[in-house]
Amino acid sequence: MALDQQKRVVSGMRPTGPLHLGHFFGVLKNWVEFQNNYNCYYFVADWHALTSEYSDPHRIKGFVGELVKDWYAAGLDPEKCVIFQQSQVKAHAELNLLLGMITPLGWLERNPTYKEVKQELVSKDLNTFGFLGYPVLQAADILIYRPDFVPVGQDQLPHLELTREIARRFNHLYSDFFPEPQAKLTETAKLPGLDGRKMSKSYGNCIYMGEEMDSVRPKVMSMLTDTNRMRKSDPGDPEVCNLYPYHRLMTPRETRQEIKANCTGAKWGCVDCKKILLTHLEEFLTPLQERRRELDDKPELIQEILDTGNKKALQEAGRTMDLVLEKLNFNF
Ligand code: TRP
Repeated sequence: MALDQQKRVVSGMRPTGPLHLGHFFGVLKNWVEFQNNYNCYYFVADWHALTSEYSDPHRIKGFVGELVKDWYAAGLDPEKCVIFQQSQVKAHAELNLLLGMITPLGWLERNPTYKEVKQELVSKDLNTFGFLGYPVLQAADILIYRPDFVPVGQDQLPHLELTREIARRFNHLYSDFFPEPQAKLTETAKLPGLDGRKMSKSYGNCIYMGEEMDSVRPKVMSMLTDTNRMRKSDPGDPEVCNLYPYHRLMTPRETRQEIKANCTGAKWGCVDCKKILLTHLEEFLTPLQERRRELDDKPELIQEILDTGNKKALQEAGRTMDLVLEKLNFNF
């Protein structure tokens, strides 16, 4: 199929630190899969990182390269998808400005994510224009590529809804132009962190995509399992166990059935089960480490990936902007 007849996909992540297995199974898995079937644009949302990191922006540059490395390790192939950097495609900012003109304040103030994050991140002053406008910039990021799908994590659904609302408002004011892009979630149930809560850097309960086994091993060995199971002779219940969701993602089905039987039958202890998981975790992480090594100490390769992607994104974004400006009679 010709590339421009293919459906289009856009998504981004903020460069704020290393990615963990929650990111992989919650989002990246889809990104990697989609690059084979769709025309994909994946970008480093460095401007969005600034909304919360504006008082200490110097670290963002380093995180940009690290993020590209994590993506590459996960299996994103710069030959199959466009990998680029938001701040290098200035048209995102121009469309952000235009969309800002038509976005009612109430939509932004009522945004549940805005309210939550502002309450949670009390350590940072998020009483800024930029933070309130976060979803408008995100809508610009997305709509500028006129995509069909946006593969994201569950937490992004309110933002996607707002993107569609902004697209509808634009279409209503200036006649039909933008598609209403659909969110795509991974099939996988959420992967809990080491302590059973959502996997999150701020909880310190993560296994990172680039983590070496020497560091993963003690983490897994100290994981909580079925807390009702006091000793090996008690029957366990995989359905309430915090380790079992990992087996679901990483352990072959036959082994999983064996685990279930021996856990509920009180034959295997949790240490046995963790050792099996470690074997499969290692099988999962090893190819990621190998791909990551291709980019180790090669900042010029990372830059080349971004330069190539930036050029393609610039072209496509420029095409949309020409049409948008025409609609507004701003094509001076
Ligand atoms: N808000 C997203 C996050 O925090 C990052 C993001 C910015 C994004 N622009 C986007 C995601 C456009 C998808 C599409 O992860």
